[in-house]
Amino acid sequence: AEQNRELRERLEQLKKERNAIILAHYYQRDEIQEVADFRGDSFLLAQKAAQTDAEVIVFCGVHFMGESAKILAPDKTVLIPDERAGCPMADMVNVDGLRKLKAQHPNATVVTYINSSAEVKAETDICCTSSNAIKVVNSVPTDEVIWVPDKNLGHYVQQHTDKKMIIWEGYCNTHDMLTVKDIEEMKAQHPNAIVAVHPECRPEVVAMADFVGSTTAIIKFCRESEHKEFIIGTEDGTGYQLRKDSPDKIFHFASKYLVCPNMKVNNLKKLVKCLENMHPQVYVPPHIADKARLSLERMLQVK
Ligand code: 13P
Ligand code: SF4
Repeated sequence: AEQNRELRERLEQLKKERNAIILAHYYQRDEIQEVADFRGDSFLLAQKAAQTDAEVIVFCGVHFMGESAKILAPDKTVLIPDERAGCPMADMVNVDGLRKLKAQHPNATVVTYINSSAEVKAETDICCTSSNAIKVVNSVPTDEVIWVPDKNLGHYVQQHTDKKMIIWEGYCNTHDMLTVKDIEEMKAQHPNAIVAVHPECRPEVVAMADFVGSTTAIIKFCRESEHKEFIIGTEDGTGYQLRKDSPDKIFHFASKYLVCPNMKVNNLKKLVKCLENMHPQVYVPPHIADKARLSLERMLQVK
């Protein structure tokens, strides 16, 4: 506790000296969410990065998020606490694979989940996040959509659109681990609880849920709901904001495995250190960033 207090004081000092803003995804450790200037899901954090006046953005999340911030705010310095915090799902699709699929479906619009590399975004017509995926897919001018990389989110979107979706086979190791049995057991233990899950979960799990939405959508739903008890099917870091917003409500995470190890690579100490050293910084080659930016900006414009 004493060490954390010192780290927090140092952080405040550095933030002023460097004119920095700290953005944190809801899956980050509590000690990071506590000191963040802004917490959010992938969409809100990308939007914030695009709009901030700060000179330095410290992005606490996984690599593709810092990369997206850098693409949207190319003149800013974007720092990440640890370069090794990646997203395995983002690595499940590469440029070669996507180009092959585009050649097979020349009339399809490429819609790419923000959980992807800058190179893949550069081959993309429009990006989306879990909070706007349905809106984005319905907004494209073609009847056919190439969807990468999350098959579970793709399947969920397909239920809510008439577009023909060609879906890549990627998935999130963390959300995909949640099973029907997990939900059944939790419901048996907590019969009055409402089930809220993230659309990165398997279709059969999503089908059992009372509410499906992005991290922010789940948080908002639980805050505004008249119910008092919830079974949550998303990463356990979300508990920080859920409990903060609704201290009187009860939240059960649907499985003890709902932890993204990549998100937990970051900690308060590394956060302070990166701002101290101004390293590691995110770099995206300009010829890739310029193309990727179009796909992200198109997403931000979808109403
Ligand atoms: P959201 O931030 O859109 O809820 O997505 C969750 C996720 O897996 C981010 O890595
Ligand atoms: Fe990637 Fe899943 Fe972790 Fe999100 S929760 S960063 S999708 S592995």
